[in-house]
Amino acid sequence: MSDVLALQYMLKGKHIVLGISGGIAAYKSVMLLRLFVKAGAEVQVVITPNGKQFITPVTLSSLSGKPVISEFFTANTGEWHSHVDLGLWADAMVIAPATASTIAKMANGVADNMLITSYLSTRAKVFAAPAMDLDMWKHPSTQRNLAMLRADGVGIIEPEAGELASGLVGKGRMEEPEKIFEAVASYLTGNKPLAGKTYLVTAGPTYENIDPVRFIGNHSSGKMGFALAKALSDFGAKVRLVAGPVSLPTPEGEIERIDVVSAREMLAASESVFAECDGAIFCAAVADYAPAECAEKKIKREKRDSMTIELVKNPDISARLGQLKRPNQTLVGFALETDNETENATGKMMRKGLDWIALNSLRDAGAGFRTDTNKVTLIAADGRVSEIPLMAKSEVARRMVETIFCNADNQ
Ligand code: C5P
Repeated sequence: MSDVLALQYMLKGKHIVLGISGGIAAYKSVMLLRLFVKAGAEVQVVITPNGKQFITPVTLSSLSGKPVISEFFTANTGEWHSHVDLGLWADAMVIAPATASTIAKMANGVADNMLITSYLSTRAKVFAAPAMDLDMWKHPSTQRNLAMLRADGVGIIEPEAGELASGLVGKGRMEEPEKIFEAVASYLTGNKPLAGKTYLVTAGPTYENIDPVRFIGNHSSGKMGFALAKALSDFGAKVRLVAGPVSLPTPEGEIERIDVVSAREMLAASESVFAECDGAIFCAAVADYAPAECAEKKIKREKRDSMTIELVKNPDISARLGQLKRPNQTLVGFALETDNETENATGKMMRKGLDWIALNSLRDAGAGFRTDTNKVTLIAADGRVSEIPLMAKSEVARRMVETIFCNADNQ
């Protein structure tokens, strides 16, 4: 931020919709708008009717160089403002301040003003910087609505604790404009801290064949592993995605996908790329056992009243690679636990020679197999713990990659 010249062209050509709702923190949005404009972005301000009580549209339009949108129609001309066009125009939408009421409307799709209709129409990434009194922030209703927004993939820029406009002290003060700017700019400029790195990701289930048409498998969808591959690639890394049988398209980016079926194939594929990798995330739900033999022909039902399939243990891919690991490789596993969660997950990480483990608890609704959301606790071998609340798998993946790989201390 100190480098004004670097700032000058940083967001050139980028389109930002800045949504302002009715809170005293709206005065800070003037600074935010200035930062975006200085960085070369085109900014369209959309303000709620209440927002106009706190900050005048003239100030905002003077700085943005565009008329501020507030109503569905311009009163004197009858011109209709298309929220759909605005939604498509935007590369990012930032709602700052986001009041408790605006957050509630966003979470529930209550499209009674231009800001919310624009929010619902946009395909771009949305950031929201909440601002409110501490009791409104703590209220279960607000927290429920925020959880919904996180699950929808909205980037919540957490408020700070400190003195509030009401004179009370607590959490609820909108984050400083510089910090909001940094979050949005880093998203828009495609901050690539992992450029030059390569990571292995295992994803999906494995199928262990019984005969040519039957198998032992599980319900893993592969969604979390694919989201991790995308997050790594978004941060500039190359990815070797070793995928079990899933029906997901390969995410865009520098992602080389190797499709496998069984645990043994997954191990072979993972071993073949491991040496070139800076780290690995073992997200696959690997079958623990496989039939000792796979029948050459379809096993006929009429010949038997009962049958027993002998199973043999599958190799543990994460543990094998944990043994081969070089000191500069960072390995991450997942643990789905039902009891003594932290203890079991930590034990698993140590036994397998991993550096981090992402703990999924079966007690958490909305986390785990097949869902589009997840909630994990990241535990590091050095004792650090980081909670990632329930949110879209794409956002959980982003946070995991940021915490584990983008922090230079962890390399
Ligand atoms: O021991 P458990 O199956 O609970 O360990 C889960 C972790 O180990 C996950 O990261 C999973 O991808 C990995 N794993 C593996 N190969 C196996 C079993 C588990 O890589 N055979």
